[in-house]
Amino acid sequence: MTFDRRIKIAPSILSADFANFGAEIRAIEAEGADWVHVDVMDGHFVPNLTFGPPAVKAFRPHVSTFMDVHLMIAPVDPYIEAYAEAGADMITAHIEAGPHIHRTIQAIKATGKMAGVSLNPGTPAESIEHLLDLVDMVLVMSVNPGFGGQKFIPSAVEKVSKVREMIGDREIMIQVDGGVDPVTVGPLVAAGADCFVAGSAVFKGGSVSNPSVYGQNIRAIRAAAEAAR
Ligand code: DX5
Ligand code: ZN
Repeated sequence: MTFDRRIKIAPSILSADFANFGAEIRAIEAEGADWVHVDVMDGHFVPNLTFGPPAVKAFRPHVSTFMDVHLMIAPVDPYIEAYAEAGADMITAHIEAGPHIHRTIQAIKATGKMAGVSLNPGTPAESIEHLLDLVDMVLVMSVNPGFGGQKFIPSAVEKVSKVREMIGDREIMIQVDGGVDPVTVGPLVAAGADCFVAGSAVFKGGSVSNPSVYGQNIRAIRAAAEAAR
């Protein structure tokens, strides 16, 4: 993938039908998703459990865009290679997941995949300053990770502005994850974010047998984002 700052919408399949991932992934892509966001949870770093590497590997053949794997696990390092081999295009790890985030990012880059670093809502923007020459993306969490459908935490907007300023002219994307919808996306774009994860706001009201609703939901987020640029 070459760097650009176009608006990207990355539906989180955490809000998809868990008995039908292949069809759900194909449906959101057909309806305009730019990326597919996969939330990996371990029941330890976050209070929920989701997808191991074999599940991610099973999703891969259905993804024709870009598979963005968000690791909410601790420790991270022992699993990086397995998620890379499962077919992730981007692997994002949390700065709070252990004492050696710099090593973790190096390990992700060593697999040849793109690397993201994520900050929880309580973690200051400044904490990633010394990682900016290593990462392809900064993920600003706008909810405490663990579940879909939570309420947007507004201080994420100010954090996005700070991160954008720190990035300067480096080729780094800013992603926001949690409670993103057509209302919350505008200020985030104005603050400098370009990639938006949305679970409930994309999947609500739709299904694989009624996928045009996914398209309407994606277009509504994208239109609000583009209007705020
Ligand atoms: C939260 C996950 C998110 C979540 C977003 O821990 O990282 O990707 O699925 O869901 P919504 O858009 O419903 O807040
Ligand atoms: Zn996520």
